[in-house]
Amino acid sequence: MRKKIVAGNWKMNTTIQEGIALVNELQKLIHDGNIGSANVIIAPPFTHLSEIINVTKNSVIKVSAQNCANELKGAFTGEVSVAMLQSIGVSHCLIGHSERRSYYHEDNAMLNKKVKLALQAGITPIFCCGEVLKEREEGKLFEVIKSQISEALFDLSADDYSKIIIAYEPVWAIGTGVTASPAQAQEMHAFIRNLITEKYGKQIADETSLLYGGSCNAANANELFAQADIDGGLIGGASLKAADFYTIITSF
Ligand code: 13P
Repeated sequence: MRKKIVAGNWKMNTTIQEGIALVNELQKLIHDGNIGSANVIIAPPFTHLSEIINVTKNSVIKVSAQNCANELKGAFTGEVSVAMLQSIGVSHCLIGHSERRSYYHEDNAMLNKKVKLALQAGITPIFCCGEVLKEREEGKLFEVIKSQISEALFDLSADDYSKIIIAYEPVWAIGTGVTASPAQAQEMHAFIRNLITEKYGKQIADETSLLYGGSCNAANANELFAQADIDGGLIGGASLKAADFYTIITSF
């Protein structure tokens, strides 16, 4: 059975002190067994990772990076390698977030390298894809998602591919307060699962966790997570409030 997952992407928010306070508040809300079968992941900024891994070491919360370098090591000032992330115990890494694609010009070829490096380091990629509003309006949404996924992921072996988590985040819904309707989100998730079925077969497709992201919040998570192909969420703004994030985690 595929995993139900709620992941919080803190983006460039919180100081280390604020981040620790947030995680402590969340840990008070999460007790043994009270989150059912949900898997919880948080993705704080790089500067917080080591300390937050330490603070969460006895909890169910897993810690993800928001990005990693597309090179193994060397003269790449300002970059953080997968080996560095692995060495502090990071378990997951967001790869291909639309903010990285649009502000830092990350393309599918670069993301393909990042995915492979993360897998080699034993880090689970949370691969993000999503169309911009114009692409949706022009009816190109399915071809955009198909090229993002197939160019970045589909040269992986079945074994490597089976470790990937995919997050569908329509760019027009990110941070806008406009959420994809459950039907719109389900339609794209079913399309993605079908793509995976065609490439890797039904069993692997059925086991892939597909997360929805884009103004998912405490009020709408329940309806989104009730869709057949939505296995959880990648949460931005609402993950910065422990009570809201906890409500989302318990929305399955
Ligand atoms: P919001 O939940 O703030 O729309 O952000 C979604 C997102 O980008 C998560 O990666």
